[in-house]
Amino acid sequence: MTPNITIRKEIPKDHNWVIELTAKAFETMPFSEGDEDKLVARLRNAPGFIPELSLVAELDGLIVGHILFTPLVIDNGQQQFESLVLGPVSVLPEFQKQGIGGKLIRTGHQKAVELGFRSVILIGHPEYYPRFGYKPSSTWGIKTHYELPSDDVFMAVELTDGALKNVSGMVIFPPEFGE
Ligand SMILES: CC(C)(COP(=O)(O)OP(=O)(O)OC[C@H]1O[C@@H](n2cnc3c(N)ncnc32)[C@H](O)[C@@H]1OP(=O)(O)O)[C@@H](O)C(=O)NCCC(=O)NCCS
Repeated sequence: MTPNITIRKEIPKDHNWVIELTAKAFETMPFSEGDEDKLVARLRNAPGFIPELSLVAELDGLIVGHILFTPLVIDNGQQQFESLVLGPVSVLPEFQKQGIGGKLIRTGHQKAVELGFRSVILIGHPEYYPRFGYKPSSTWGIKTHYELPSDDVFMAVELTDGALKNVSGMVIFPPEFGE
């Protein structure tokens, strides 16, 4: 059951708490390299940063979750296709498994469509994201230079029908994600 959560655009006065929240969310994750909070800070200063795609989940005045989408390019050598990368997404540990992450993702998808984006790419839990329509990026021949533990963690979703039809190539992640 989703509690009475408001999803809204992040504003500057949220910045410090969102960094803390991100650290808290990832702190106990075995896969975490412990720098997701710094990644949020870097992405906020990235040239492509879109404030409308940095969203917080608020419950009774407390921000309990955050999600960020940043533009990227898929390059097939002849053409470049614009897309987004989802991440990080964070929910405070004591508020997880109540549908807040799902609400952030769905609302983020809607905002992205309103802004004209048609797809999203991510690296994440293969058990979690398929419920939001994500499939392995290999479905479309979309590739990454990153060395990943398995193929199924690299996923993409079409936000509009057929958005990735005829799209393939190498994902050029924003440099803020690192090598
Ligand atoms: C991932 C995260 C954002 C999900 O937020 P949430 O509010 O707990 O998610 P929801 O309530 O919408 O969905 C809960 C479901 O997600 C699943 N889930 C949560 N974390 C998961 C994980 N690490 N791996 C697989 N599934 C996960 C839960 O098991 C639950 O599944 P169920 O519905 O089948 O019981 C949150 O757990 C979190 O902040 N985790 C730590 C940071 C993180 O891992 N971020 C994502 C990196 S890819």
